[in-house]
Parts: sequence; structure tokens; C-alpha cells
Amino acid sequence: MSSRQITIIANWKANLPPSEEVALAKEIAESLLGALPKSGLPSDVRVLLAPSTLGLVPVASLLRREYPHSALEVAAQDVSLSIPGAFTGEAPAEHFVGIAPAVIVGHSERRRDHGETAEVVGGKLARAVAAGLAPVLCLGDDLPRAEIASRVAYVEEQSVATFAAAERAGCSAARLLAAGLVIAYEPVWAIGTGNPASVEIAEGIAAGLRSALNREELPVLYGGSVDAASAAAWFGTSTARTSLDGLLVGGASLSADRFATIVRAALSAAGSAQ
Ligand code: 13P
Repeated sequence: MSSRQITIIANWKANLPPSEEVALAKEIAESLLGALPKSGLPSDVRVLLAPSTLGLVPVASLLRREYPHSALEVAAQDVSLSIPGAFTGEAPAEHFVGIAPAVIVGHSERRRDHGETAEVVGGKLARAVAAGLAPVLCLGDDLPRAEIASRVAYVEEQSVATFAAAERAGCSAARLLAAGLVIAYEPVWAIGTGNPASVEIAEGIAAGLRSALNREELPVLYGGSVDAASAAAWFGTSTARTSLDGLLVGGASLSADRFATIVRAALSAAGSAQ
């Protein structure tokens, strides 16, 4: 059995109002209860729900109040570049402390819809780490038909630019890694298309990033059209795990049944299924 932790993150994006996010969190917790040991999730499987900014507090409160032993956690979907202060409408990293231990940074939808450059994403990484949050950095290529080597080169280049920007914002790569940095490889051509990348491509990216950063243990997740039916393939088995460390799930995480199936596949790969 591998001791590497598996992380599953449900990215609900802006699909649901907070009341429905609370209902979904409850449904997921209930549907997982039967699959979990009495003590909740085992330490080798981590599950985070990432509701909208408005849903973060009610979902975190629900989990604390009604499912304190489930070990289900919440993550923020984004964080502002600004520090706390007179910045109308912003959500500085410090405001998430005590609510969400982790934050997704640099999602391709933020890059596409809000023009977030490597400079902005690196700055947000630095802000998250300064506040004590663990960043989940999304990197991805827009090369649907490229060879693996070109994809690896593209994503490595994106990571180098982002780490350099974080460094300029006062946060070294070593500090990012010590803060619990997780990379999520999310190819743009796979997100929301029903066409996931192959495990081979995702493993190639993971190997490239680990070697570029000289960190064999760098956690790399995959995201992009992951569904319940194919979830097990991303983990492998408890005796033959893939080199990936988990999944960032969009559409399939909006269904409690589908998401719980994905978590059960993770528990089984970790050797912790009940
Ligand atoms: P889908 O699983 O809907 O393709 O979304 C992936 C994603 O963007 C998660 O952050």
C-alpha cells in the first residue's frame, strides 16, 4: 500500500447559490458516511469542497456542526491580490483563515475571463502563503493534439513564470513548497468537454514538473472531465498506484452520487475502503 496521500477537490465554480451548496455538501457527507471508517476519512485521503465565495462560510459551518468526524474540508476557489483594507469587493487571503485551509489559484477560467497573467497568479500564491493558506496552483495547456513532450515544456514554462512572479512578490519556491503547494494539471481542452486527458499525459506532466522543481514528492492532481465511471483509472490500485496524487473535479462534483463514487475509488486505491 502506498503512503502517498490522495487529495480530491470538488470545484463547484459559480454553479449554485449558497443554500444549494449547503444542501449538496450535506448530501455528499451523508452519502460518504457509509464508506468511511467511524473516525472519518483516513489520513491518506483528503477531500475538500470548494463552494463559491458566498457559500464558503455556510458550508464550512455545516461540516463543523453536523459532520465534525467526517474530516471533510473546504477550499476557496480564488483569492484577491489585495491585502485587507479599503479595497471594495475584494477577498484578501487573511479573510479565509479559520474557514478554508486551502485556496485554488490560477484556474484557467480566471486566466481566460479575468486576464490573470503569471504575474497575477504568482502574486496571489504569495498572498495565500503569507496568510498561511495552502495553495492549489492550476496549470494547463491549450494544445489538444500535441505530443506529451511539448505539453510538458509548455506547462513547465508556465510554472517557471508563475514561480518567478511569486518570488518577486516575496515568496520563494521553497516557501511555496513548504506551505503545502499542490499543482493541479488542468488542460484547457479537457475542462467541461467530456474529453479527459489520458493518465499517461497527466503522469508525463507530473514527472516533468517534479523533475524541474527537483521535488519527487510534489503533489500533482489532474482535473478536466473526470467522471465517476473513470475515476478509478486516475488512482490505480492500492498495490499499483498511478503517480498522480488526486483529482480536481468540476461538473461531476455537482452530483453527490458521482462525487461520492470518486471518493470511494480514492479510498479503495489508498487501501482504506470499508
Ligand atoms: P470539469 O470536471 O467540469 O471538466 O471541470 C474541471 C475543472 O475545471 C475543475 O477545476
